[in-house]
Amino acid sequence: MGVPLRSGNVIKPSEMTRLTITTFAGVFLGFLIGVSFPTLSLTKINLPSSLFPSVDLTYIEDKHSGLSTRKLFSALSSLKDDKVVMVASNKSEKTKIWIPTNPRGAERLPPGIITSESYFYLHRLWGQPSEDLTIKPKYLVTFTVGYNQKSNIDAAVKKFSENFTIMLFHYDGLTTEWDEFEWSKRAIHVSVQKQTKWWYAKRFLHPDIVAPYDYIFIWDEDLGVENFDAEEYIKLVRRHGLEISQPGLDANSASLTWAMTRKRDNTEVHIFVEIMATVFSRDAWRCVWHMIQNDLVHGWGLDFALRKCIEPSHEKIGVVDAQWIVHQGVPSLGNQGQPVGGKASWQGVRERCRKEWTMFQDRMTAAEKAYYEAVESNPF
Ligand SMILES: *[C@@H]1O[C@H](CO)[C@@H](O)[C@H](O)[C@H]1NC(C)=O
Ligand SMILES: *[C@@H]1O[C@H](CO)[C@@H](O)[C@H](O)[C@H]1NC(C)=O
Repeated sequence: MGVPLRSGNVIKPSEMTRLTITTFAGVFLGFLIGVSFPTLSLTKINLPSSLFPSVDLTYIEDKHSGLSTRKLFSALSSLKDDKVVMVASNKSEKTKIWIPTNPRGAERLPPGIITSESYFYLHRLWGQPSEDLTIKPKYLVTFTVGYNQKSNIDAAVKKFSENFTIMLFHYDGLTTEWDEFEWSKRAIHVSVQKQTKWWYAKRFLHPDIVAPYDYIFIWDEDLGVENFDAEEYIKLVRRHGLEISQPGLDANSASLTWAMTRKRDNTEVHIFVEIMATVFSRDAWRCVWHMIQNDLVHGWGLDFALRKCIEPSHEKIGVVDAQWIVHQGVPSLGNQGQPVGGKASWQGVRERCRKEWTMFQDRMTAAEKAYYEAVESNPF
């Protein structure tokens, strides 16, 4: 037949065999290359994946299986741009994610799932979680209270709008009694007997828990707030950039603490923040919280140390004179000490105050000495 045959058009049996072998060899080579690349199996990470519905680990694995570690690395990095993601691949070990910029202890978690801060906002037990919070108060007010002072506290709380979360630390164990007040049902109650506001603050006001609040009021129970307007106060504090502040004290205030402090034989000036109605900015509190020693329950000496957290302290620590309160000087918690060795309970408390103060000062002096020596011997 006159049809010209070109070799390319017709495959002879011998060529067919060669092609088959070549194809197989290619597939096999591809397979070898594929397996030789380190692949990351995210499902090997020991995480209960049901806890992390927002990160689809299976999807990541499917999408990227067979890709190089480097590509996977960047895929993971894109989960959160500012995080450094390190992926260690070691055949004898399970593949690990380790993200040093995560909070301590959470380095193995995908950054996108980490919620390092919380709040006191109340959630419902039903409905859409996203619709739980209709209002997010921007300020936190805490009072350390005994039930005897209920009318005083009721009057004080009513000075704070819905923009404030109210938190009560009960040192007398009475909590449900407060429910006669409407606001009590929305308040956060912490009941631990016979502790002081610094004890509570250290344990229940961790900076990561109170992070959403611009300002944190840590107040005593015996303050007269007739002439006080909380929103106005906040405005003034913001305008003057005060990191630590307190309302002015009425001249008639019983200033027990100061009177006792003054009796000490030294020349230290009592700085203006008397530590009974203090208001901290979020950043100031983050520092002060760290400085509160676990055994410093009465807080004497703390007012001197506060300025170490603020720079420059003479500009950012202050009294807001335009908003003032009355310190009624009801030493209710002071009366809750134990009578020891024939002394009245308040004497024991006062001695303890002095002891703590001395310890705190000594500790601070020693710590600073060690710190500056270290800096000098090892300049940066
Ligand atoms: C792999 O992990 C094993 C066990 O932890 C370790 O002994 C080995 O040195 C690692 N190899 C590499 C290349 O990192
Ligand atoms: C609560 O805060 C908002 C926003 O700052 C403000 O507009 C409002 O007046 C505040 N509420 C009260 C009762 O002051």
